[in-house]
Amino acid sequence: MLIKRPPLAGVTENDVTPKHLYLNRRKIMAAGGALALTGLTSACSAQEPAGTPAAPRVSNGSLDFSETAYRVTDGDLTPYDAVTGYNNFYEFGTGKDDPARYADAMTTDPWSVQVDGHAERTGTFSVEDLVDFNALEERIYRLRCVEAWSMVIPWIGVPLSSVLERFRPTSDARYVAFETYLNRSEMRGTRFPVLDWPYKEGLRMDEAMHPLTLMAVGLYGEVLPNQNGAPMRLVVPWKYGFKSIKSISRISFVSEQPPTSWKQSAPREYGFYSNVNPNRSHPRWSQASERIIGAGPFARRDTEMFNGYDEVASLYAGMDLEENY
Ligand code: MTE
Repeated sequence: MLIKRPPLAGVTENDVTPKHLYLNRRKIMAAGGALALTGLTSACSAQEPAGTPAAPRVSNGSLDFSETAYRVTDGDLTPYDAVTGYNNFYEFGTGKDDPARYADAMTTDPWSVQVDGHAERTGTFSVEDLVDFNALEERIYRLRCVEAWSMVIPWIGVPLSSVLERFRPTSDARYVAFETYLNRSEMRGTRFPVLDWPYKEGLRMDEAMHPLTLMAVGLYGEVLPNQNGAPMRLVVPWKYGFKSIKSISRISFVSEQPPTSWKQSAPREYGFYSNVNPNRSHPRWSQASERIIGAGPFARRDTEMFNGYDEVASLYAGMDLEENY
């Protein structure tokens, strides 16, 4: 079973969440806990093929989703202002406040995603073709950045497996590669060669299909703000934050390990796997602990192996995770 930890005692959403954001929630599943878990265990069942008419994306900014059925980490939620004001999205600049300042320039509707490679179904699809907006779940995940800080965010999305299954990947698909949208006139940071644009990431197929891996379309009850990766981004909670690629516009099923932006730019510092690992220091700093964003200047916690998501350990059985960083 996925959820090992009980809900955190003593913390209510009202302690940490701006009230107006949570008041607009609507419950669409009758029995949140049981149904959400059913949804998870059935994530590998056949999906409607892409192209089936889907529910339209909501336009007023709020999303329907199942009530928080479980919390997959402990700790207080990071305040909304920090989640949306302290970001890494280098396409808009390297400063933490650049994305909040400049990401509104990105056009996210309409949005198309190119799907190619080893799959029976490929082509160009809309967000609604990829994500079943009637099956959104909330997942409270800690995201641990390689820069040694973390946030706990109430994400809304669907398991990535439910997205990928729609394309019926073939047995040659050993990895899945992702690319971020690139538009130099809308994304001022891409006018500088900070990374080899477009931003690229990838997962091994079993990592991508793991039930923890989320394709997020919202947070805090609302559609994703642009600076957090609208209209859809990955959240891979046991890996350093840079694996959680934002504003995805291409998905490729490939047979070889795909190039990834940070590994390309500094291979000694960033590897393909990038599992959170307190025992392996970054060449320039320790990864043993992390700053808790939004909890005051001195709030820190010890970093946990796999960011605390022990259920993924079996994916790496027999691998040396200090070599395969
Ligand atoms: N995706 C793109 N396209 N560009 C980026 O610069 N930064 C990554 C990741 N996804 C990044 C990206 C890093 S380093 C982190 S820590 C997370 O996004 C931050 O996500 P957040 O701003 O929603 O907290």
